[in-house]
Amino acid sequence: MTAVAGQIRLKLGVVGKGGVGKTTVSGLLARAYAQRGRHVVAIDTDSNPNLGLSLGLSLAETEAVPVLPRSAVVGSGGSARATDLIAEYGRQTPAGPTLLSAIKVAVAGAGCTCSGHATVRSLLADALEEVDLTLVDMEAGLEHLSRSGGTLAYADLLLVVCEPTRKSVLTAARTAALAAELGIPEVLAVGNKARTGEDVAFFAEALSAERVDLAGVLPYDAAVAAADRGTAVGLTPVAPEVQRALDEVMDALDAAHARAGALSR
Ligand SMILES: Nc1ncnc2c1ncn2[C@@H]1O[C@H](COP(=O)(O)OP(=O)(O)O)[C@@H](O)[C@H]1O
Ligand SMILES: [Mg+2]
Repeated sequence: MTAVAGQIRLKLGVVGKGGVGKTTVSGLLARAYAQRGRHVVAIDTDSNPNLGLSLGLSLAETEAVPVLPRSAVVGSGGSARATDLIAEYGRQTPAGPTLLSAIKVAVAGAGCTCSGHATVRSLLADALEEVDLTLVDMEAGLEHLSRSGGTLAYADLLLVVCEPTRKSVLTAARTAALAAELGIPEVLAVGNKARTGEDVAFFAEALSAERVDLAGVLPYDAAVAAADRGTAVGLTPVAPEVQRALDEVMDALDAAHARAGALSR
């Protein structure tokens, strides 16, 4: 598949505190972008990978996704090509995106995962000509912005997922500061699991106080939570209010990306 004409390629890192909904939001966004006709590659960097489940694979299929070779250096001077790695290790998902699994801790005491992160870093550095959106679902914390030059150093945009808690907003503020140091052009936040109007207002006020732009707010959706309990197999329908929020977030991300591109020209 070739890139959709007129659309700008986007390399997006989905980050945030543990349990805020990074994998859920990654899965929903990757699926929604694919529905807009984009060619999406979604990369799972969690050492306990489950993005495949959010993209409609079964548990067995998710566990069978081959892990990218560690320290595969892609691009200039490297031995591997992103296109070849995607062809060999990528798996098509029912939601549309191609899934790559970058890091998996299968045995205890196997050492750190730095070399897996290096693979992701070099994949992002390579120009993925035929891919419209490369989305990286990160593991929790801020280490991906410090480790060996930053797993996400070549991302165009970070989306920090927040829940209606002060701690998750503080993580967004810290992420924005580190991203600026790494030279990542744009950082936006998305509010998740909003149950009330107060939650929506909290995201707007708390993030604005930390000077982090808000791309949109996703409601708490019982169907999302139920799907994660493993009762539903495959893809579950997206509720209209969740789809509306996703459309708003995608528009905000595309606008921020276009703005960053215009500034760098
Ligand atoms: N919008 C939402 N509505 C309801 N439950 C959600 C929503 N987003 C995430 N969750 C639930 O929150 C929990 C953590 O989500 P997950 O995506 O695994 O977080 P993370 O990847 O940040 O650790 C899961 O049980 C998931 O079902
Ligand atoms: Mg996760």
